[in-house]
Amino acid sequence: MRFSRLKLENWRNFLAVDVPLRRRMFVIGPNASGKSNLLDAFRFLRDIANPRGGLQQAVELRQGVSQIRSLHARAQPNVAIHVEVDLADGEPWTYRLEFAQDKRHRAIVRREEVGHGGTSILRRPDPLDKSDPSRLTQTHLEQVNANREFRPLQEFLARVQYLHIVPQLIRQPQRWESLPDDPSRTGRSGCSDSSGSSWTASRRSCWRNPNSPSIGRSSGTCPPCLRESPGAWIGRCS
Ligand SMILES: Nc1ncnc2c1ncn2[C@@H]1O[C@H](COP(=O)(O)OP(=O)(O)OP(=O)(O)O)[C@@H](O)[C@H]1O
Ligand SMILES: [Mg+2]
Repeated sequence: MRFSRLKLENWRNFLAVDVPLRRRMFVIGPNASGKSNLLDAFRFLRDIANPRGGLQQAVELRQGVSQIRSLHARAQPNVAIHVEVDLADGEPWTYRLEFAQDKRHRAIVRREEVGHGGTSILRRPDPLDKSDPSRLTQTHLEQVNANREFRPLQEFLARVQYLHIVPQLIRQPQRWESLPDDPSRTGRSGCSDSSGSSWTASRRSCWRNPNSPSIGRSSGTCPPCLRESPGAWIGRCS
C-alpha cells in the first residue's frame, strides 16, 4: 500500500508540482526549497482523515488557508492536493481536494473527488452541498457516515506517519542501545510522529545523551526525536 503520485497546486511555495512516486523516494534540495512543505501535504491529508481531526483542524494547525495557499498564486484562489494510492485491492484510488477560504476565514471545500479503478465514487459539490453550503466546511474524508465507500482510502491516509529520524541513530544504533531503560517510557514504536498527541506521549520518553552535548543540549523543552525542530534531544525509539 503506497502513494503512487502527488500533485499540488498553490500549496505553500509550489504553484504546481506533479510527482510520480516510487516505493522509496529521496527528497533533496537546499534549505527553504520546499522539502518540508512537500511532505506536509501527506500529513495534511492524514490530519483530515484522522478521526480526531478534520479539515478545519488541519488548516488551523497550519495557521489558516492564507498561510497554506501559495503567496505566488494570483488569480487562482484554490489550494489543491491530489494523490494516487495503490492499496491491496489492485485498483488505484485517487483523492483530490481543492479548498479556499470563505469570508469568515474558514476553509471551504471547492472540490472533493474520489475515484477507484477509474470509476468516480465521490464528486462534490453535490446537490446537497449546494442547498446547504455549510456542508462544505467538512470533507467527506473526515465523516464516517459519508466515507463508507472509500473507507480503505480514509484508513490508509489516517495511518500516514512522519518519522523524523535522528541521523546519529541511523549511523550508530549500537551506541544508543546500551543506554538504560527509562521506566516512564510510553512504549510507542518507531521514532514517533510529529502530531501534538505523540509529542505529549513521547515527551516523557526523551532522554539526553550524556556523551554528546552537541545533541543533548539543554533546551528547556524536550523535542522528541521526531520533532521538526533541530534536534537538541534524542527521543527514545522503542
Ligand atoms: N504560503 C506560502 N507561499 C509561498 N512560499 C511559502 C509559503 N509558505 C512557506 N513558503 C516558503 O517555503 C519555504 C520553506 O520551505 P521548507 O520549510 O519546506 O523548506 P525545506 O526545504 O524543508 O528547508 P530546510 O532544508 O531548511 O528544512 C520558505 O522559503 C517559505 O517562504
Ligand atoms: Mg525542512
